[in-house]
Amino acid sequence: MPEGRRAAALRLTGRAVAPLVLATLVIVAAQAAWGQDVEAGREKAAPCQACHGPNGNSTVPLFPILAGQTARYLYLQLRDYQEGRRQDPLMDPFAASLSRQDALDLAAFFAAQKPLATAFNPDPQKAARGEKKAAETLCTMCHLKQFMGQNEIPRVAGQHYEYIVKQMRDFKSGTRTNDAGNMASVSKTLSEEDVDDLGHYLAGLY
Ligand code: HEC
Ligand code: HEC
Repeated sequence: MPEGRRAAALRLTGRAVAPLVLATLVIVAAQAAWGQDVEAGREKAAPCQACHGPNGNSTVPLFPILAGQTARYLYLQLRDYQEGRRQDPLMDPFAASLSRQDALDLAAFFAAQKPLATAFNPDPQKAARGEKKAAETLCTMCHLKQFMGQNEIPRVAGQHYEYIVKQMRDFKSGTRTNDAGNMASVSKTLSEEDVDDLGHYLAGLY
């Protein structure tokens, strides 16, 4: 190839390659900054299955469904269990040995899984009262429409009835205190009947 044409060809290749290299660098940088690996999380999630079910779709009502929960909330709960701000005799040992990276990867994995409907059959009257109570109490100001959750505020839609009721009682009694006061003040305004009604409403939201 004559010298001139070779130089031109090289310049052309250079021009075509530069944006590709740049795009790759941007992607790599974004991944490094985000630092959450869904596939690594899938492997690390093997011991969680025994309680939280396949892909975080637990079938035991007192074990929360993790599938489709927000990654930020999952990560913060794991840290809270690890550092004793939230306590549960079954869950504590599984959070204890996690590194920060493990918690990030697990959170990313469970957040990326599809939540499945549970077998729970809500009582229509209780669910209707629960919906009214939720509107009155402005729950969705924080939990968003249909309790889908956002960042550090959990998705509650379609969660197990028994688990929801237990958490609201725990907030109310001060057994669970890792909520920066957000749920403590709300739950103190709720009667036992409200808690039951809200459980029927929320567990049936899917
Ligand atoms: C022996 C059973 C068991 C195992 C195994 C287990 N958990 Fe849990 N987990 C629980 C129970 C029970 C709770 C709810 C405790 C409560 O009522 O506050 C829970 C709660 C959680 C929560 C809080 C969810 C929410 O909605 O607030 C997260 C996150 C979590 N577990 C993640 C994990 C991860 C990740 C693993 C595996 C590394 C794991 N769990 C293994 C029993 C278990
Ligand atoms: C001011 C904001 C705010 C309002 C209003 C609010 N919540 Fe929450 N809720 C939160 C936050 C934040 C958390 C998570 C606390 C934590 O980090 O442990 C939470 C947690 C919960 C949980 C536990 C979820 C889990 O997976 O463990 C339930 C159930 C719940 N809220 C139901 C309700 C209901 C029902 C209402 C209305 C009656 C309500 N919330 C109103 C902020 C709010």
